[in-house]
Amino acid sequence: MCGIVGYTGSSQAAPILLDGLEKLEYRGYDSAGIAVFSKKKKSEPSIEVIKAKGRLKVLFEMTDSGKSVKGTCGIGHTRWATHGEPSVVNSHPQYAKDKRVVVVHNGIIENYQELKERLMRDGCEFVSATDTEVVAHLLDRYYDSDPIDAISKLMYHVRGSYALGILFQDRPGEIYAVRKDSPLIVGRSSGGNFIASDVPAILKYTRDVCFIENQVIVRLTGKDIQFFDVDKAELKKEFTQIQWDTEAAEKGGFKHFMLKEIYEQPKAVRDTISPRIKDGKVNLEELNLSQEELSSIRRIQMVACGSAYHVCMTARYMMEELVRIPVDVDLASEFRYRKPVLEENTLVIVISQSGETADSLAALREAKKLGHKVLAVVNVVGSSIAREADSVFYTWAGPEISVATTKAYSTQLAAVYLLAIVLGKARGMVDEQAEAEMVEELQRLPEKIERILEEKERIQWFANKFSHSKDIFFIGRGLDYASSLEGSLKLKEISYIHSEAYAAGELKHGTISLIEDGILVVGVATQSELFEKLISNMVEVKSRGAYVLGVTSYGNYNMEDVANYTIYVPKTMECFAASLVVIPLQLLAYYVALGKGLDVDKPRNLAKSVTVE
Ligand code: F6R
Repeated sequence: MCGIVGYTGSSQAAPILLDGLEKLEYRGYDSAGIAVFSKKKKSEPSIEVIKAKGRLKVLFEMTDSGKSVKGTCGIGHTRWATHGEPSVVNSHPQYAKDKRVVVVHNGIIENYQELKERLMRDGCEFVSATDTEVVAHLLDRYYDSDPIDAISKLMYHVRGSYALGILFQDRPGEIYAVRKDSPLIVGRSSGGNFIASDVPAILKYTRDVCFIENQVIVRLTGKDIQFFDVDKAELKKEFTQIQWDTEAAEKGGFKHFMLKEIYEQPKAVRDTISPRIKDGKVNLEELNLSQEELSSIRRIQMVACGSAYHVCMTARYMMEELVRIPVDVDLASEFRYRKPVLEENTLVIVISQSGETADSLAALREAKKLGHKVLAVVNVVGSSIAREADSVFYTWAGPEISVATTKAYSTQLAAVYLLAIVLGKARGMVDEQAEAEMVEELQRLPEKIERILEEKERIQWFANKFSHSKDIFFIGRGLDYASSLEGSLKLKEISYIHSEAYAAGELKHGTISLIEDGILVVGVATQSELFEKLISNMVEVKSRGAYVLGVTSYGNYNMEDVANYTIYVPKTMECFAASLVVIPLQLLAYYVALGKGLDVDKPRNLAKSVTVE
């Protein structure tokens, strides 16, 4: 949560910092700030700090898009408040007295209270409620002309997660950075060097990027980059070339990133599936899991948060049916603390778009501690989860900017389908013919998603009718229950309409008492075995006054006997239906939020990457 950026080189820093922060605003957007070595007094270097509460545009206005802030070296921050309300004083950069040390931070210092009390006993004065100010004071205390030494001491004293960008006042032109459990990258170019929380922040300036590992300290000047470990020994690091371009992280004519990303789903799904199909068969050699390992798996434990958790729910229904293997699904925040008992030969699968979600990362570590192999399904290359997992399945969704996930979700579904086929083959549950049929159908999914997108006006029209609802329910059974969970989350997070998803059979055990005249209930029904049952549940809510929207596959026309309005998606194999029904549910959420005039890409209280517990 929070984004950091830094630049040192030959160009004016502030416009570059603001530009970078704009690309990171999805990580947090309640306040922002920059610190730049000022050129005001040449003899005596000083650091100018400018901060503003609210969206980044306030900082843009205050600084004439950065032009009014002179200097060629600085750091910046966009905040998602954790410690202390959004305010100028709590926004970053934070600094110790006289700005001897100035810091931007993404993460949480867990022992900050204890450190703060100790510092206060020694006479330190605090002005903010942030955990980050502790870092600034500690560095100020440890700093005695050797920044690497001060940072290394800091690392021995603070607990928690951090990606820090640091300026020392008597080191003009130099940026120091360090990370533990929060993302940090370094970029280099002939015009200068960069730090950032994520690639899009610097992609306009360079593709030459290094993904920093945990507990690595970096020193940057305009010409040079050095890496050190916690014991101050210098390290060698590899740089990689980013293949995708800036356009992938721009709106490209769409009103919102969310809509653009919804439209990118056919490509994202295709890009995730195609490289894994060789001669009509699924090939996941990249996972480095031998046939013996695959066939020895007795159980699967899936762990994730939010929408990625809904992918796990889908996977459970799908894999248990297709592979006949027990699949347990846990929320990462629960798994990490519930002292899980995992049977031998349990494969743990962690799903995460960002690869940085704190709970998912902790769950991964817990599973490894228990001696289990972890397979991660991740979108961001080089992210913490990708690095720490035993095998990685990259979803090739490209950068996802909108806080509400859409294309990453769709590629995660594609990933679990491919995994299910491979596991099914290894366990003798999927024969060659079944594989061939599934592969063929998987390759048709992108085109079917395109067809749904062509009908978006019908969904938009419907969404406008319900944009002032107070409550909206989603019901489904089996795989459709998993899709309902996702539809409901998508709607509530961006439209702020209260919404719940229910396994349709569970509704009458309490929740049905909430159904009253005019309330919208969305019934998702793609599974033929459960279709009649779901229709009965829809009749039950309709007879209590609900307005019923049916989402089903072409051919299930008797849906219209009960639903007030029906949205059809193309037919596919029922085990892949989640990939199609989710599209109208995403569009419904998008158009409801649009109808309410809300900031679709940056819903209140949320951030894209949840790197805190
Ligand atoms: C909802 C959404 C979140 C994420 C969740 C996990 O639209 O985006 O629920 O799915 O925060 O994030 P990742 O996948 O990055 O671990």
